[in-house]
Amino acid sequence: MLIVFIGPPGAGKGTQSKRLLQYLNIPHLSTGEMLRHAKRERSAVGQMVAECIDAGRLVPDSLVIGLVSEKLEEPAYSHGCLLDGFPRTVAQARAFDEFLGKSGRQLDVAIELAADEEILVQRMLKRAKVEGRDDDTPETIHERMRVFRSETSPVLQYYRQRGVLASIDALGSPDEVFGRIQAVVDARQQSSCSRGATG
Ligand code: AP5
Ligand code: MG
Repeated sequence: MLIVFIGPPGAGKGTQSKRLLQYLNIPHLSTGEMLRHAKRERSAVGQMVAECIDAGRLVPDSLVIGLVSEKLEEPAYSHGCLLDGFPRTVAQARAFDEFLGKSGRQLDVAIELAADEEILVQRMLKRAKVEGRDDDTPETIHERMRVFRSETSPVLQYYRQRGVLASIDALGSPDEVFGRIQAVVDARQQSSCSRGATG
């Protein structure tokens, strides 16, 4: 299965990815993790990525699209994948569709993890005390939320129009949220099996 997780900062994309990967036995592709790795490189690109992440802004589309396409061409990703945090702009979603079309693949479902911002801010401030992620400061969290509303939420509409969006409530315990994701994924698997059986 090819699945995309879309949700505001702190919605649980990373937390739920771990569970879904185990359930489906597919690889994970988190652009946030890839970019945090690139940030540590002492190069001009690393420096530019660091400036974007630390300010809570998006890294330029061309760079992210290049990184993701390169990864998806690896054999390990050819039978499915869970994308966490990509696509994050409509331009990324269009480029991703083009890439999938050329490689004869298609997106099974885009899962929106929806939640009240105030609660998510509290989650990230709590995480800041434990993990100390550089972009978990109050100012950067505020900017990441603003960027989500302005640049990423149009991607939800993009996938809704294509009939592949499933929205789930990301509040509740991690187990409860996973139960909702599992129900969406199971339903998609069943419908693609019955399509395969009839056609
Ligand atoms: P990215 O790493 O993707 O960060 P994000 O979207 O801001 O989201 P987080 O990773 O903070 O949250 P999450 O949804 O994964 O939640 P988590 O499970 O950790 O991106 C970082 C930056 O990279 C971007 O700002 C941008 O600069 C750049 N970037 C990344 N992708 C890009 C792209 N495609 N294009 C351009 N730039 C890009 O949970 C959060 C906390 O809540 C944790 O402590 C967790 O334990 C807790 N928690 C989770 N679920 C629950 C629950 N149900 N109840 C209580 N607590 C919970
Ligand atoms: Mg994450």
